[in-house]
Amino acid sequence: MNTNHLKQEWIDLSTPWIKKSREERNPTRTGLLDKPMLEACGDVEGLRALDCGCGEGRFCRMLAERGVASVLGLDLCEPMIEAANQLASGRDEYRVADVQEMSFLGDESFDLVVSYLNQCDLPDYEANNREVYRLLKPGGRFIVANLHPMRSAVGAWHRSPDGTKEHVIVDKYFDEGERQWVMLGVRFTNFHRSLERYVRSYLNAGFRIESIVEPTITEEELKLYPELDDEMRVPNFIIFALRKEEGRG
Ligand SMILES: C[S@@+](CC[C@H](N)C(=O)[O-])C[C@H]1O[C@@H](n2cnc3c(N)ncnc32)[C@H](O)[C@@H]1O
Repeated sequence: MNTNHLKQEWIDLSTPWIKKSREERNPTRTGLLDKPMLEACGDVEGLRALDCGCGEGRFCRMLAERGVASVLGLDLCEPMIEAANQLASGRDEYRVADVQEMSFLGDESFDLVVSYLNQCDLPDYEANNREVYRLLKPGGRFIVANLHPMRSAVGAWHRSPDGTKEHVIVDKYFDEGERQWVMLGVRFTNFHRSLERYVRSYLNAGFRIESIVEPTITEEELKLYPELDDEMRVPNFIIFALRKEEGRG
């Protein structure tokens, strides 16, 4: 599938996506991923940040609220960038761009780059890794949230005849490539790759892997988000905290 088709899928998805993203209660984000993503980003005060695949800009706004000097959000999908611009506050800026090719940005111009559920959408996520490495200042960090490779292979639950979820199906794990899903009533494409491939690609790009987080929830959080009960059983997502080490070009 080529970039234009992939882009059209996101354009088709953009209206329900923007609506959902702006609901206060967005369990996957507010209940599960935002907290470990912010923890992985650490103290962002005064940093120059870039968000690859920023969608309608929610994480850029969160970084702006936490004191970044500036954050640039890039997304391939025009309606997402239009929506992001409508809520821009001054520290956050947005631009339509393909994050696999960011030659319009200068080397070593960011302290922090985030990718919040975007690499699974990229046919060439390794190009994104190389570009982010180039764009980061030495010592800068790349925080990537992605679909967990164990889940992006198939993802569905095996259910008993009465519908009870028995276990997640892991199959075709080494059969990397396109997967078709339906989200918010719209059919769209993701890419599955093995954990080994992701890790190797970060190392090949030059990054040091500082930590890997498999987000889950506590019993306390479950009371607030009962719909996230599956997240206590099997991880859906994975977060990589990567660093471009000082002294490396
Ligand atoms: C799952 S959404 C995540 C959006 C946002 N990061 C968030 O957390 O709400 C993935 C986003 O990546 C964008 N995207 C897909 N392919 C892209 C590409 N090649 N370059 C830039 N953005 C892309 C889509 O338009 C979509 O907004």
